Amino acid sequence: MKTQFFSATSLDGFIATEDDSLDWLFPLGDVNDSSYPEFIAEVGALAMGSATYEWMLRNADKVAAEVGSAWPYTQPAWVFTSRTLPVIEGADVRFVSGPVQPVHAEMQAAAGGKNIWVVGGGGLAGQFYDAGLLDELILQVGSVTLGRGKPLFPRRVLSPVLRLVSVRQIGTTMAELRYEVHQDAPGAA
Ligand SMILES: NC(=O)c1ccc[n+]([C@@H]2O[C@H](COP(=O)([O-])OP(=O)(O)OC[C@H]3O[C@@H](n4cnc5c(N)ncnc54)[C@H](OP(=O)(O)O)[C@@H]3O)[C@@H](O)[C@H]2O)c1
Repeated sequence: MKTQFFSATSLDGFIATEDDSLDWLFPLGDVNDSSYPEFIAEVGALAMGSATYEWMLRNADKVAAEVGSAWPYTQPAWVFTSRTLPVIEGADVRFVSGPVQPVHAEMQAAAGGKNIWVVGGGGLAGQFYDAGLLDELILQVGSVTLGRGKPLFPRRVLSPVLRLVSVRQIGTTMAELRYEVHQDAPGAA
């Protein structure tokens, strides 16, 4: 059972524009040509921040046209927010706030031995990393730069460094990089 941050990113390390647009991403390729189908089959629970959830809210029609329902996941989802947000039709979602540790324990209990997906954003993935709970980063690096936007992983990771375990080319526009996180126990000197 792993906790994984699986995300697409621009070449310069942004996962969305500053106004939360993903329009730059879709022309780069089909997510089904990446490792996503195998990845999602092993996910038992997922977490996201409110900006990621609100993208789904704003784009419910687009998502429904593409995958047949406004909420594309069958797994239970935890949305981190300090606000009250509407529930997307068909979504098995609960709203939480505060430290990630107790939420992670709840997700683990619900995941039935499968993996936990931190959908994004990067700051939320960083909170799981800070708590020593993140095992892998799986990144589809697209061949565009955004110059500014929502950061992929706003943390300084220097020692131990991330360990690159695989590289896969997706067409001529994406490289999928899989990194394992190795870190000292949280709180260790
Ligand atoms: N390229 C990709 O594959 C990919 C993947 C995922 C997401 N995205 C996109 O990237 C953007 C991510 O936006 P973002 O970086 O702003 O991140 P986000 O994690 O989606 O949202 C951040 C917000 O979540 C809430 N939050 C985070 N941690 C919390 C905690 N511990 N307790 C309570 N609330 C918490 C806070 O807002 P409030 O408290 O005000 O609600 C915070 O401002 C979105 O546009 C999303 O659609 C792209």
